[in-house]
Amino acid sequence: MTALLEARQVSKVFGGGLFDKRVTVALDDFSFSVESEPPRVVAVVGESGSGKTTLARLLLGLISPTTGNVLYRGNDLQSLPRDQRRNFLRDVQMIFQDPYEVYNPFYRVDHVLETPVAEFKLANSAAARRALIHESLRAVGLRPEETLGRYPHQLSGGQRQRIMVARAVLLRPRLIIADEPVSMVDASLRATILDSLRQLNRDYGMSIVYIIHSCSSTRSRSRIRSTSGAPSRCATTLPWTPTALRLSKSPRASSPPTPPQAPRLKRVAAT
Ligand SMILES: Nc1ncnc2c1ncn2[C@@H]1O[C@H](COP(=O)(O)OP(=O)(O)OP(=O)(O)O)[C@@H](O)[C@H]1O
Ligand SMILES: [Mg+2]
Repeated sequence: MTALLEARQVSKVFGGGLFDKRVTVALDDFSFSVESEPPRVVAVVGESGSGKTTLARLLLGLISPTTGNVLYRGNDLQSLPRDQRRNFLRDVQMIFQDPYEVYNPFYRVDHVLETPVAEFKLANSAAARRALIHESLRAVGLRPEETLGRYPHQLSGGQRQRIMVARAVLLRPRLIIADEPVSMVDASLRATILDSLRQLNRDYGMSIVYIIHSCSSTRSRSRIRSTSGAPSRCATTLPWTPTALRLSKSPRASSPPTPPQAPRLKRVAAT
């Protein structure tokens, strides 16, 4: 079966050009794939600078690989025909580390929910749109009356992040790429957000690529947790058993006259 999304020997090198001569190998020779069925949870684990966000941006087609390909249903993301691009934009959604970046401060938060409903014609009346948005907010544990009509700065980080998860519920994508979605959220809210994601996987059949910071973490089958005393960013317990891929840290950036280092970042483990 053709994979829903596949990274095939993808590498990304930044710099080395006229304006930025330093070369950084952000990702090297990374391969993995997510099928449409059955829904999976894949955890990508790596320390700071190991290329996790770069990988997420590559998988979304926000940047292009230096070598290798990212394929959506067997077609290269960089040259998707228009209709397939539209399917891709619906099928694959992103939840960012810092939800604040996604919001326009001048719009009420309703905007991030109304836009996809309009864009993908998910409702044919104002009442249907309202019902859909309310349902998606409740699905992630938010009360519509406490959330809608507010500006991003009037909500907590956890609420802002859960609205992004609600947006994913609305669109019913096949795959969600979540780049450290709870690292900037209060510890008490982490479980709620992780549970919402788990629910999307279990109840709506969505696959999830869950990108997580590793620090000096110890890993068990369902748990990715730091040793004591580590920053809170590292202490996350996943409420599911993911397939784990580990990224190791990129070599230091080099600058001329030192020749560019050979790419060394590899996917080192898959369970
Ligand atoms: N646009 C860019 N230009 C130059 N270098 C970049 C760019 N984006 C990322 N890098 C470099 O690529 C490497 C990987 O960065 P990336 O943001 O993917 O790491 P990360 O694993 O997400 O780190 P963190 O856990 O801190 O979020 C870093 O050395 C970073 O400085
Ligand atoms: Mg990152």
